[in-house]
Amino acid sequence: MAVSKNKGSNKKRSLDFSTDWGYASAPESKDHIQLKNRYDLFINGKFVAPDSGKYFDTINPATEQKLSEVADANANDVDKAVKAARNAYEKVWSKMPAKERSKYIYRIARIMQERARELAVIETMDGGKAIRESRDVDVPLAAAHFFYYAGWADKIDYATPGTKSKSLGVAGQIIPWNFPLLMAAWKIAPALAAGNTVVLKPAETTPLTAMKLAEILQEAELPDGVVNIITGAGATGAAIVNHPDINKIAFTGSTEVGKIIQRALAGTNKKYTLELGGKAANIIFEDAAIDQAVEGIINGIFFNQGHVCCAGSRLFVQENISKTVIRKLKDRMQTLIVGDPLDKNTDIGAINSKEQLSKIKQFIKIGINEGGECFQTECSVPSKGFWCRPTLFTNVSQSSRIVQEEIFGPVLSIQTFRTVEEVIEKANNIPYGLSGGVWTDKGSKIFKVTSQINAGVIWANTYNKFDPTSPFGGYKESGMGREGGLHGLMPYLHLEN
Ligand code: NAI
Ligand code: MG
Repeated sequence: MAVSKNKGSNKKRSLDFSTDWGYASAPESKDHIQLKNRYDLFINGKFVAPDSGKYFDTINPATEQKLSEVADANANDVDKAVKAARNAYEKVWSKMPAKERSKYIYRIARIMQERARELAVIETMDGGKAIRESRDVDVPLAAAHFFYYAGWADKIDYATPGTKSKSLGVAGQIIPWNFPLLMAAWKIAPALAAGNTVVLKPAETTPLTAMKLAEILQEAELPDGVVNIITGAGATGAAIVNHPDINKIAFTGSTEVGKIIQRALAGTNKKYTLELGGKAANIIFEDAAIDQAVEGIINGIFFNQGHVCCAGSRLFVQENISKTVIRKLKDRMQTLIVGDPLDKNTDIGAINSKEQLSKIKQFIKIGINEGGECFQTECSVPSKGFWCRPTLFTNVSQSSRIVQEEIFGPVLSIQTFRTVEEVIEKANNIPYGLSGGVWTDKGSKIFKVTSQINAGVIWANTYNKFDPTSPFGGYKESGMGREGGLHGLMPYLHLEN
């Protein structure tokens, strides 16, 4: 790659990618990984065959090869898991002093760290995300959640002065495929710290790190039944939601399923938190540090192939800098390496599933049919597996479907704006309210914009920063309740005077 030379003229100001220079491949080894051919359900501390007798495959979306098969739990299996969790709650976990509970949670965190490399490689193989991300983000953050909530377990009464807190009982937890181990940690760690027991269901395309987590729970000698991990598809999730002996549901996934769950829980005594979809505005003002903002745009939309509920998928650029920003953005996009997720150079891995790829392709078609101008990078992609080149759309409007709906892929839509008021109105004109980003040199502008945008999390001059101490969650169709921080403990507690 070289900057094109335009002596005496500055007409063509873009990078020239024809002088290609590449990276030597740097694949992470998978020799140290042990996967069983088949995983049973983890109930009451043991792996047990499903009552259904059925199993389904989980594949590597980068190769389309089968990695293993997992059990398809039916309603009887769910009932067994809930009974084990209830029994462990009544007899062991709710009776245990909080400081003893916290020792187990610390132990889980430490074993996760010890087995970090194995977990990262399996996460990448099962879900398609780049090893750079599973190694540097997913696994360390998952361990950090266990460390953080271990610290809270025996201090909850100090955090709620004047009240006495009580655990709820059995928590049913249903998680998606975009951050499988991290979402398991977000769910399990606060539930255990607050004194509850758990039945957790991972998503059907990414069950393997959850099964490894079950092995870690055994290694940590967590008492039997405190955490049960069962695999299956939507019907298994629904059986957890509808089980009468569940006290709390924690769900992360699509808004569509979130609404089904909310309807099912109406009129019951079950508490719930829902972390659903998003369509975040990432706003670049004329006074922003442009090169940093471009990095932030890239991170905002292309992190984890864009399979991120808080992805910065709607870019708003102030009109007078829009040409420069788009030019720099396209150049930067051309340098993104799409391909083998196990290669440490890879920026963008495989799309999680065939279904998700066809949904993304469908949206790209809709965008083009609506009159949007589509730009995709020129990189090559492997012939097997599910891939989508980094994509952006210009010439779109507020009413475009690709501006309004969650695509959950590496597809960015770009709009321009002139005034602060205009961009706030546009940013809020959406059914979602999960996250946002603002890039400016002026602190006052940050305060104005962040206080007026209806979103649970807004980053300023950065994007996609996560920390266990920081609450995360949305407004409107992005769901309800918060996870992370002290806020994330509250949905697992009753507070009594
Ligand atoms: P989904 O919402 O169907 O799946 C999430 C989890 O819910 C999985 O574990 C699934 O087995 C479970 N589930 C499905 N139906 C259920 C039901 N009726 N009751 C209880 N649990 C149920 O998401 P899916 O189908 O994998 O993806 C569809 C779209 O949803 C994606 O294209 C994306 O736009 C969005 N999505 C958003 C996520 C987010 O974090 N915002 C995460 C996953 C998907
Ligand atoms: Mg898989």
